[in-house]
Amino acid sequence: MGVRITGLGHSAKLAQGVARAGGWKLVQAEEKQFPDGEDYIRFKGSLRAAELVIVNSLYPPNDEVMACLIAADAARSLGAQSVILVAPYLAYMRQDKRFKPGEAVSSRTIAGLISEKFDRMYTVDPHLHRYNSLREIYNIPARVLHADGAIANWINRKLDNPVLVGPDRESRQWVSKVAKLCGAPFTVMQKKRFSSIHVQSRGLDAKQVKGRDVVVLDDIISSGHTMAGVLKQALNLGAASITGIGVHGLFARGARRMLSATGAKIITCNSVPGSSARIDIAPLIAEALMKDLHDAA
Ligand code: R5P
Repeated sequence: MGVRITGLGHSAKLAQGVARAGGWKLVQAEEKQFPDGEDYIRFKGSLRAAELVIVNSLYPPNDEVMACLIAADAARSLGAQSVILVAPYLAYMRQDKRFKPGEAVSSRTIAGLISEKFDRMYTVDPHLHRYNSLREIYNIPARVLHADGAIANWINRKLDNPVLVGPDRESRQWVSKVAKLCGAPFTVMQKKRFSSIHVQSRGLDAKQVKGRDVVVLDDIISSGHTMAGVLKQALNLGAASITGIGVHGLFARGARRMLSATGAKIITCNSVPGSSARIDIAPLIAEALMKDLHDAA
């Protein structure tokens, strides 16, 4: 039967883009919640012998993890030959160690559940800080895609004199790559997190940002405090313009308002939809699937 694409949750539009870019057929999935909050999922097309790709960014995490697990099980029982997860935003990656005695390391739990139900998995710029590779927690082939090319294209099209700023040491991995693709300088700050909403990045120098189009680049914008703090510092140090780019824009409650108060332009990839999601990663996902799937057309 070949490849079929389906989108769950907020990823229905992204799934359409992936299907269009790869020339694959879409299978619609009907999703609803019963009054008590339980999920209902129904595939509205045959899956017999299909290589089924389920596109679903895991945000909100609990709803979408559950939907993925239920959908994968259903697909297999409906005859799909293989079931593949594309989770551009991979939730539950930040609790990657027991920071305090007694804590659950939820990244391992979720990786275990996904590995049980899917044959392989793709994600985009996951939060790999204390793990070096997804292989440390996934038992299935798990491929990491990078949005650096798509982000660099956006910067090259929109800004004349960019300098890239990473808010913490971990951000060096993506900030350095994007800066190279833009032929722009970059700097990386040091961050101290006091609580989930109290965070401070230090080490930005006026010489690096004065008169330039400053781009603060992070993997996730969640509460927005990391991004807002650095954007304000860049402005105070004389930046000509300030832009915040997040690969995955989660925007927890109050984040959009706080970020808009900085006066910055906020841009994200469409791994999570929303008004800032201007960078399309559907071609990146389609290209990776085309290389790997058996019947790629
Ligand atoms: C953490 O190290 C990540 O790379 C991000 O900096 C973090 O998730 C951003 O979170 P928030 O928007 O809540 O400051």
